[in-house]
Parts: sequence; structure tokens; C-alpha cells
Amino acid sequence: MKQKFMNQQTRKIPVSSIVLDEDIYPRKNIDRKRVGIFSENIREGFKFDPVEVEPVPDRPGIYRLLDGAHRWSAYKSTGITEIKVIIKNLDGMDPLLYAAAKAIGPRQLTEDEARNIARRAYTRNIGLSSEEIGKAIGRARRTVDDYISDLRAATLMDRDTKIFRMNCLGIPQDRIAKRLGVKQVSIHNHLSKMAVLPNLINGDLKRGVTIPQVVQKHGWTDPMVWSQALKGKNSHDRFKALGWGLRTWDQWEFNDCDKRFGDDWPGRIPAQLIGHILFYFSRQNDLILDPMAGGGVTPDTCLALNRRCWSFDMMDRHESRPEIEPHTWSLSSDQKLSWPVNSKEKADLVIFDPPYFDKKAGAYDRKSISSLPRKAYLEFLEAFFTLLKSHVKKTTRLAFINADWRDFQGKPAIDETGKDDILIDDYLWILRKTGWRRTHIIQAPMSSERFSAIVVSAMQKKKILGVTSRYVIVLRQS
Ligand SMILES: C[S@@+](CC[C@H](N)C(=O)[O-])C[C@H]1O[C@@H](n2cnc3c(N)ncnc32)[C@H](O)[C@@H]1O
Repeated sequence: MKQKFMNQQTRKIPVSSIVLDEDIYPRKNIDRKRVGIFSENIREGFKFDPVEVEPVPDRPGIYRLLDGAHRWSAYKSTGITEIKVIIKNLDGMDPLLYAAAKAIGPRQLTEDEARNIARRAYTRNIGLSSEEIGKAIGRARRTVDDYISDLRAATLMDRDTKIFRMNCLGIPQDRIAKRLGVKQVSIHNHLSKMAVLPNLINGDLKRGVTIPQVVQKHGWTDPMVWSQALKGKNSHDRFKALGWGLRTWDQWEFNDCDKRFGDDWPGRIPAQLIGHILFYFSRQNDLILDPMAGGGVTPDTCLALNRRCWSFDMMDRHESRPEIEPHTWSLSSDQKLSWPVNSKEKADLVIFDPPYFDKKAGAYDRKSISSLPRKAYLEFLEAFFTLLKSHVKKTTRLAFINADWRDFQGKPAIDETGKDDILIDDYLWILRKTGWRRTHIIQAPMSSERFSAIVVSAMQKKKILGVTSRYVIVLRQS
């Protein structure tokens, strides 16, 4: 234990500012008999050692008990209003384990209590070793191993599936290691053993078990199971198997998002749309880059269509989406942006689906580019397209997804001045200026089904012309 590094102070605080936090309380119950004896001792003038507390995170002026629940209860029952306490700074150490180590001083933990603490502590921090937990709860390492073996197996399985998924997406081992907080050598060793990881899944698929059943049984994500089920197939057959109906012309309209790919996310685009971009503008095993990946539709679709994918977003969802690496694109004072990774490898295709100016600004983080004023938003895009050019190949294509942003709020179409609009023309102008030449412009309208009949009728009465047009602009370097 790091006890010797901790600092502490002793002072008097109101009994009412101390709470017993069940999250870090190691015992099953407070022993009422013991409290009764302590209360009598207090009334007879006996002086106890001060209880130990730490400040409750996010509740200024409130302290939670680390040691001395019985003494504290006794003080309360005798009506004492202020007591001397030791305020600890645990310096990152788990307060539950600290409290457990303190609790075993006067009385060993019961078997139930020890098991319960070990499991809670491990769940809170899977990096804890059995030895560390054992020391705190007064049990041998092997006993702790036993207490947490099922949790550890589930954690390791979860970690292995994440490593496997990130590796399928072509994320380099050093980045996987960093993201999952494991040593790079262990990733290397794991990957060599991991070839067998999908065997059970493939066995079930061969026996005719359906994909949703396999997803449920093995806890793999839909895209991961699809990536196994479609192994060896060409892109056309993959498309057919996914049931997406390949569009032959440059108009790609889809009413719904395919729920199997990507998470429920503000501004989520249909996987069928990403699927079409991948089908027409990349080849299997190509490296795809998604700089603002949001709900993860691009990496998921890449798994199903056998493309590698590096994706980034400002929102860090470490647990559920380790494959989306955290990165906030932001202009420095000299109008420069930084590239998120150091790598020789360059993308073959970039799929860029940024917030459409301030549409949905309320749904994204404050640092999102959707919070920028019009001029700054356009300057950001200019800097981004310039930076992109110096980090991709000469042959890399860019698929930029955006829509007209017209400032029509509440105005009939005839009264719109267009003064503050950002139109597709503006984007095309910036793209041309930064050295990108358009090869295709594909209509990919947004669904209008999300508007209620009342809204539609009000718009019609006022002659307001809404926007559902959206475009995929595909470009090469000029
Ligand atoms: C339109 S959404 C992308 C949706 C995604 N294509 C999907 O289907 O789920 C735009 C994303 O850009 C991200 N974003 C906005 N500003 C950003 C910034 N400065 N750096 C990184 N990500 C940013 C937001 O968090 C949001 O997830």
C-alpha cells in the first residue's frame, strides 16, 4: 500500500458532514451492539482515536468514512455535534481497499465480506493484482484468484475481443496497446494466439446458426460476426449478403439507418451510404480514415466489407468504442491543426462527415466545430483540407459529406436573403482552393420522415422550403 505517501490533516468537523458511503464500506452491516458499547464509553468520558475520512468527490464540505463507522455512529447517537477526524488524501488508492485494510485491524472480515470486497475492487479497477487486493482484505493471493476468477476471465475475453477487433481494422499494435492500457509485447503475444478466437463463431456459422443468434451467444458485435461470416467473399457478394441493394446511379437514398452498424448517435448516417462509398471508391484491405467518426458507422461497415479503418472523434468512448481513437481537431493560434498519429502508412480513402455547421450543435460537445461561428467553421475546413493533403497519398480520395445550410428559420423561401448561408458551392470553392478536384457528386438525401405532420403542415402554410438534400462529394488532388 502507498500509505507512506499519503498526506493527512487532523481537525474538528461537524458529525453531520460525515457520511457512510456504501460504495466504499467494507462490512455488510454496522454492529449495533458495538455501537451501543461505544456510546456508553463516550458518555463515561472515554476518548477514542479520531475516525478517518476523505472528501466526497463533487460534494464540497462533505466527508465519507474510511475508518470508524462504529465510533461515528456512537457519536451521533450520543448527540455530539463535532468530532476530531483525520482527513486523508488517498492519492489515487482505492478507498474501498483502504477501508478494508483498516477494518481488519480490530476484526477479520467474514468470508462473504472478503469475497464481496475483492469482486467490487476488481470491477472498479481491473488493473489490480490479486496480491494487492489480498493484502488489503487479509487473504492469500490464491484465495483472491478464486474470488475473482470468473470476473477476470470475462475481462480478459472482453479485452481479447477488443484487441482482435482493433487488429482487424488495421490499427497498429502500439496504438492498440496504448488505447487498452496494456504492454505492446502482450498485444504481440496475444495476437499470435488469437487466430483461434473466432473458431467457435465460425463453427456456429458453419452449422447454420444465424448471425443474430451468434451475436447474442458470443457477445460479439454484429459487424465483427459479419466480418467472419463474409470472409473470402468479394465486395459485390458482401453487399448482397448484407441486403443493401446496390445502387447503380449517382443517387443513393435510404430511409433508415441499418441498426446493425454504428451506435445511436446524433447525425448518424446510414451504413448503406458508407457501404456505397466503400464499394465504389475503395478496394478490400484498403485503409480508410474517418476523422470525425461519431457513432462508428464507418469502422463497423469497414469490418463487414473488409477494409481497414482508422477512426477518430473528440468524444472518447474508451470502453465501448476503443477503435475510435480520441482526437479533437482544433486550430491553434497560428491557424494550424495537428495530425492525430505518427505513422508512415497513409489512407487510401478519407470519409469525412463533419457536423453540418451548427445543425445539432446542442447535441455535440462544446468544443465541437458545430459551435464555431460561420467564418471560423469555414476557416477550420480550409485548414483541415490543407492538412489532409500533406498526410495522404497523391492517389487518396476524399469523400466529403455535407448539405446546404440555409438560414431559413421561420422564413418563407421567397424572403430568404441567403446572406448567412453555407452552401455546397462554398465547400466546393474551399476544396478547389486547397487543391482538391471533384470527381463525383452523389445525391444522398436525408430522410424527411423525422419531421412530424404538424411541422410539415406549418412549413407548407408559411411556404418554408426545408433541406433534405445531402451530397457525397468525392475528390482527388488536383
Ligand atoms: C455528423 S457527426 C458524425 C456521425 C458519424 N458519421 C456517424 O454516422 O455516427 C460529427 C462528429 O464530429 C465530431 N466532432 C465535432 N467537432 C470535432 C472536433 N473538433 N474534433 C473531433 N471531432 C469532432 C462530433 O463529436 C461528432 O461525433
